[in-house]
Amino acid sequence: MKDKAILTYDGKSYELPVIHGSEGDKAIDITNLRKDIGLTTFDPGFGNTGSCKSSITFMDGDKGILRHCGIPIEQLAEHSSFVETAYLLINSELPKKDELERFSSMLNDHSLVHEDMRSFFENFPRRAHPMGILSSMVNSLMAFYPEIPEKTEDEQINITFARLLSKVRSLAAMSYKISRGHKLVYPSNRLSYCANFLNMMFDSPVRPYVIEEDLVHALNVFWILHADHEQNCSTSAVRLVGSARVNIYAAISAGVAALWGPLHGGANQAVIEMLQLIYDSGGDITPFIAKAKDKNDSFRLMGFGHRVYKTYDPRAKIMKKMCDTVLKQQKKNNPLLGIAKRLEEVALKDSYFIEHNLYPNVDFYSGIVLTALGIPRNMFPVMFAIGRLPGWISQWRESIDDPHWRLHRPRQVYIGAKKRDYVPIDKRV
Ligand code: SDX
Repeated sequence: MKDKAILTYDGKSYELPVIHGSEGDKAIDITNLRKDIGLTTFDPGFGNTGSCKSSITFMDGDKGILRHCGIPIEQLAEHSSFVETAYLLINSELPKKDELERFSSMLNDHSLVHEDMRSFFENFPRRAHPMGILSSMVNSLMAFYPEIPEKTEDEQINITFARLLSKVRSLAAMSYKISRGHKLVYPSNRLSYCANFLNMMFDSPVRPYVIEEDLVHALNVFWILHADHEQNCSTSAVRLVGSARVNIYAAISAGVAALWGPLHGGANQAVIEMLQLIYDSGGDITPFIAKAKDKNDSFRLMGFGHRVYKTYDPRAKIMKKMCDTVLKQQKKNNPLLGIAKRLEEVALKDSYFIEHNLYPNVDFYSGIVLTALGIPRNMFPVMFAIGRLPGWISQWRESIDDPHWRLHRPRQVYIGAKKRDYVPIDKRV
C-alpha cells in the first residue's frame, strides 16, 4: 500500500505521497502541492527539504553514520586510497585492479595545466586568498578544455572528470608556489596522486622534497574524509548552478566559492585561527566557551556543530586520532592540539553544547593534521576543496543523469510593499 500523508487545509483534506529511502528515511512528496492546493512550503536554509533522490552518500545524523555507496567511512579511511574513493563515488563501485590502474593513469595524463594559465596566477595580488584564485581558475578551465560531451555515459566525460581531479590539485600547488614567489614544480607521473601534490607544494631547487609515506598516508585519509557529504551547501551550489545546464567547470567553481565560507569549508582555517587566538591569549579556554554560549556575542566555537550530525561527526573521530598519529610519527608537538582537546572535553560536558547537540565536526581537528603536513593556513579550505571534488563531480553527474532533472528555482513568501504607483521625482517628498 502506498504510504501517504494527509494535509487538511481550509476544510479540505489532501493526500500527499510519502516516499521511502533505502535506509528508512522518508519524505513527503510535495511536487504537486502548489498545483493541487495552491500552497508552497516555507523552509529557510532548506533544513527540512530534500532537493533530490541520491544513491551516492548516506548520512544518519543521529547515529553519526556516513557511508559512500554503502561503504562506511571508517572502512574507506582504513583500507582505501583517495583515488580509489574518488573512483567509487564517480562510478558507484570500487574499481577492479585494472580499472584503478587506468583511472590513475588517466589522472596522470591530465595533470599538467595549460602554460597560458600561468600568466593568470602572475597577475593575482600575492596576498589573494587561494580559494578566490581556485574558483576563478576552475572556471577558466572551460576556456582551455571546452570539449565536454553532452551525455555523461560518453567515455569522453571521464577525461573531463580526470582534468578536474588532476588539474585542480596542480592549480592549488601552483597558487601556493606563485604566492611565495617560488619556482613552479611540475607534476610527475612517477608519483602517486597525494605524493605528487606534496612534491608540487614543497619540492625546491635548493632542497629536494623527501616523500614520507606517513604524510602521504595522512593526506590520503584527509581527502577520503572530505570526499562527499550528500547535499551540503557547496554540493547544493554545484547542483543548483549545474541545473541551468551550464558546463561542469562553472558549476564546480560555484562549489569552490560556497565552500570558502567560514560556516562551511572555510571553518578549518577559522578553527586553527581560533585555537591560535586562545593560545596567544594564554591558553585559557573559559572566556571563549562563555563567548560561544553568549547570545549577544557573534563568536561561535568554530569546528563545532553541524546541520545534520546531532552527535559526534564520524570524520572528526578519525581526524582526531590522526592528529596524534601524525604528530608522533613526525616527532612533533602542536600545543593547539591540547587546546582543541580541552575545548572538546569542556564543551561536551556543558549543558549549552549538550542541549544544542553541538559536537566537533570534520573541521575541528583537520587543521592540526594539515599543519603537520606543512600546509599554510590559508590553503586549508583549498585542501577541503580538492578532497570534495569527487563528491561534487559524482553529485553533478547524478543530477545531469536524473530523468526528472529540472532547473532549480525555489519559491518565496513575499512580505514587501503592496501595489503602488510610480511617483515622478519632483513629486517625491
Ligand atoms: C562543514 O553540511 C555539511 O555536510 C557540511 C560539511 C561537509 O562535509 O560538507 O560537514 C562541512 O561545513 C562543517 C561545518 C563547519 N562549520 C563550522 O564549524 C562553523 C561553526 N558551526 C556553526 O556555525 C553551525 O553549527 C553550523 C553552520 C555548522 C550549523 O548551523 P545550523 O544547523 O544552521 O544551526 P544554527 O546556526 O541555527 O544553530 C542552532 C543553535 C543556535 O543557538 P539558538 O539560537 O538556537 O539558541 O546552535 C547554536 C546557535 O547559536 N550554535 C552554536 C554553534 N553552532 C550552532 N553556538 C556556538 N558555537 C557553535 N559552533
